[in-house]
Amino acid sequence: MEKTLVLIKPDGVERGLIGEIIKRYEMKGLKIKAIKSVFPTRELAEKHYEEHKGKEFFEELIKYLTSGMVIAMIIEGENAIKCVRNINGETKYQDALPGTIRGDFAYKDTYNLVHASDCKDSAEREIKLWFE
Ligand code: PPS
Repeated sequence: MEKTLVLIKPDGVERGLIGEIIKRYEMKGLKIKAIKSVFPTRELAEKHYEEHKGKEFFEELIKYLTSGMVIAMIIEGENAIKCVRNINGETKYQDALPGTIRGDFAYKDTYNLVHASDCKDSAEREIKLWFE
C-alpha cells in the first residue's frame, strides 16, 4: 500500500468542492487515512514548495496557498500516488481532460484546486510536513 499527501487548495474549499473532490478518490477505492483543515502559514507553504523557490511563479504560488483554508489528507491505496494524480488531471486547466478534477472544475491559471505528491520521496516528506 502506498500513501500520498493531497491538499484541497483554498479555491477548492471556497467553491464548496470538498465533498466532490473527496468522492472521486473514494470512488477509485482509495482510503482517506487522515484529514484536517489548516490555514497554512507562509513558513509551511514555503517548505511545501521548497523545490520551486527561485522560479518566477513562486511568490504567486505561496500567496495562493496561504490565501485561505486548505484541506490536507493522507490518502492510501495501491499505486495511490499515480492514481491520485490521474484523478487530479494535468496541472494547467487547459491541458486537464474532462473527467479529471481540474478538467471538470479549473478554469484559470494558478487556481488548480488540488495538490498531490509526485513521487514516493515527496509523499514521505510532505506527509511529515503537514501531519508531523
Ligand atoms: S515545474 O516548474 O515544471 O516543476 O512546475 P510544475 O510541476 O508545473 O508546477 C509546480 C507547482 O507550481 C504550480 N505552478 C504555478 N503556480 C502559479 N503560477 C504559475 N505560472 C505556475 N506554474 C506552476 C503548479 O500548480 C504546481 O503546484 P502543485 O500544488 O504541485 O500542483
